[in-house]
Amino acid sequence: MKREIIETNDGSKTIHLPELNESYHSTHGALQEAKHVFIKSGWDELNLDSCAILEIGFGSGLNAILTLMNSQQVKRNVHYTGLEAFPVSGEEIEALGYSEIEDFSAFKNEYALLHSSPWGKDVQITEYFTLLKLEQEMKDFSPKAGAYDLIYFDAFGPRVQPEMWEKEILQKMYTALAPNGIFVTYCAKGEVRRNLISVGFEVEKIPGPPGKREMLRGVRK
Ligand SMILES: C[S@@+](CC[C@H](N)C(=O)[O-])C[C@H]1O[C@@H](n2cnc3c(N)ncnc32)[C@H](O)[C@@H]1O
Repeated sequence: MKREIIETNDGSKTIHLPELNESYHSTHGALQEAKHVFIKSGWDELNLDSCAILEIGFGSGLNAILTLMNSQQVKRNVHYTGLEAFPVSGEEIEALGYSEIEDFSAFKNEYALLHSSPWGKDVQITEYFTLLKLEQEMKDFSPKAGAYDLIYFDAFGPRVQPEMWEKEILQKMYTALAPNGIFVTYCAKGEVRRNLISVGFEVEKIPGPPGKREMLRGVRK
C-alpha cells in the first residue's frame, strides 16, 4: 500500500496512507499526540522501578524513543516489546526526520539503534531500555498472561481496521497485562469503550491531545 510522508500541525511529520485516508499519527501534531496519549496518560501513571511495555504497532518508533528518553530521566528499567507487521523502511525513517527534532538531539544514536536492531531478539539499547521487536501480525501474536505493565495500543483506527478493536483482540490485551496494568489508546469511540469494559477493563475517558476531545485508558483490576 502506498505510504507518503506529511507534516502535521506541530511541525513533526507522520506517514499517511492515501488509499485509506489514514495517518500513523494525528494530523494535529504527531509528537504532541505521542507525548500526551502514551507518555503523559500511560507511562507517567506507572509507579514501578522496572516495567514491561507492549506497543501494538511499532511503526516509526516515536513512542519507543519517547519512552527510552523518559526511562533515562527517571532511571526506570524498561523491557519494551514492539509488535509490527509492516515495518517502516529506512528511507521513511530518514524522511520523517525525528532524529532532527530538538527534543531527540541527544538520542540520535539510540533512535537509529531502535531501527537497526534485529527482529525477534532482546537488544539492550541503553542502561535502562531493552527492546524486543516482533515482526508479526496481531492475529498470530500470543502474549504470555500477565507479562506487561503497560500497553500502548496504537493500531490504525476502527474505521480502517475494525478487527483490531474487537473483543477477541482486546481480551488478548487484557490477559497480557499484569494486575493494575494500564492500556492506553488515542481512540475514544463508544463501541471500543464498551468492548474494553466487556472484556474486564475498568475504563476512563480522559482528555485527548490537542485537536481531540477524548481518549481511553483501561486498567486491569
Ligand atoms: C497508527 S500506526 C502507529 C505506528 C507507531 N506506533 C508510530 O508511532 O509510528 C499503526 C501501526 O500498526 C501496524 N499494524 C497494522 N496492522 C497490524 C497488525 N495486524 N499487526 C501488527 N501491526 C499492525 C502498522 O504497520 C503501523 O505501523
